[in-house]
Amino acid sequence: MSEKATITLEGKSYEFPVITGTENEKAIDISKLRGQSGYVTFDEGYKNTGSTVSNITYLDGEQGILRYRGYSIEELAEKASFTEVSYLLLYGELPTADQLRDFEHSLTQHTLVHENLVKVFEVFPTGSHPMGQLMTMMSALSSFYPDSLNPNKSPEATNLTVIRLLAKMPTICAMIQKKGKGHPVLYPQNKFDYVSNFLYMTFGNVTEDYTPDPVIVDAMNKLLILHADHEQNCSTSTVRIVGSSHANLYASVGAGVAALWGPRHGGANQEVLEMLEHIRDIDKGDVKKVVAEAKDKKRLLFGFGHRVYKNFDPRAKILKDACDKVLAKLGVNDPLLQVAKELEEAALTDPYFVERKLYPNVDFYSGIIYKALGFPTPMFTVLFALGRMPGWISQWKELREKNEDIGRPRQIYNGATLRSFPDIKSRK
Ligand code: SDX
Repeated sequence: MSEKATITLEGKSYEFPVITGTENEKAIDISKLRGQSGYVTFDEGYKNTGSTVSNITYLDGEQGILRYRGYSIEELAEKASFTEVSYLLLYGELPTADQLRDFEHSLTQHTLVHENLVKVFEVFPTGSHPMGQLMTMMSALSSFYPDSLNPNKSPEATNLTVIRLLAKMPTICAMIQKKGKGHPVLYPQNKFDYVSNFLYMTFGNVTEDYTPDPVIVDAMNKLLILHADHEQNCSTSTVRIVGSSHANLYASVGAGVAALWGPRHGGANQEVLEMLEHIRDIDKGDVKKVVAEAKDKKRLLFGFGHRVYKNFDPRAKILKDACDKVLAKLGVNDPLLQVAKELEEAALTDPYFVERKLYPNVDFYSGIIYKALGFPTPMFTVLFALGRMPGWISQWKELREKNEDIGRPRQIYNGATLRSFPDIKSRK
């Protein structure tokens, strides 16, 4: 017999079906609750609310498990390339060799951006934040490629937009870094693979040849894979809710970039590095003092805690290991790594952090690697967005293919009840 949940309200009982996912996750389907009883559920921050049934990413926060389409993050980070993982997320299966070649080829056909889009960079004031620029560029794309914009046109038109967006993302991100330095931009070179092309456009120079360092290419592939999707996080939920209004893909993803920028979400990777520098320079490396201040709620430890992971974040584990290896291979001896390890140790042995299950998250070690690879700190969240792009697009695509309802939560109104409009002279 299928499981049911019974809710009793004002002496009347209502039955609701229980839905079970392939990993035995269970949810009470309350979609008929309001219609039948007049009640809604209340769940600020959606801590107990499933917003969709998805086939893309599985996450078990208690066990520290993360899988894309059934494949473990550990195996994907070890064996796959970022384009392979993008294909997997977008189309549901790992590509065959032919499919991967065709996919990568179609990406190389769309790496250029319209020249007028490059001019948009000219209007940003010096020092403007890369994430603000990225948001602008995402919405600007909708003006430049209107032919395939309508998400209801055809699956072919939608796929063209998907390919365009994925292909142009490295070009745009690299341009943001180049323009920030006041350097001329580099145009994509189709002889390079996706990640090498990004590194070329970011770190190459018009004055000389550039050969991507395989150590850096490998590290970058891993970083992008680890960030590629994370089910219904804040930015992805934003992309889905915007997409549910049938807004175009660029607009939906632009909203995701905005959500990611916040320091409680993707913006934490920039905050972590600045925090570690502050601990090194201002707190003189006194991590015990820093932990004590975090416990007194005087400061937040960026890179710690997670809404879903109540064990370790498996991505942080991989990144910690990768950090040691990349720094060793590049011959970088960054004292910030030592500060990070001491902070982690101090926090993880403190009852406050233990009781609240506050472990390092994906943003804790990524910044140290980005820094070693040569990225400026304000670019870190842009790199998160570059990695998250296939995830956002896959989630948007899934929503549209299922033609999900428009997202429209309810509320409990707690403001003033009806009152009459007073004349301005009588107001106090
Ligand atoms: C990402 O959701 C995703 O999947 C996101 C992400 C992805 O891939 O998309 O994984 C990427 O966003 C990672 C998280 C990056 N953010 C940070 O590193 C910022 C620091 N962390 C936090 O602000 C916080 O932990 C959140 C926002 C990540 C999670 O918030 P929750 O689940 O709402 O938990 P909470 O803020 O209510 O905290 C519970 C308790 C509170 O203490 P008490 O009220 O019980 O006394 O833990 C404390 C908090 O004050 N707490 C912290 C803390 N994080 C939580 N105390 C000190 N330092 C911290 N970092």
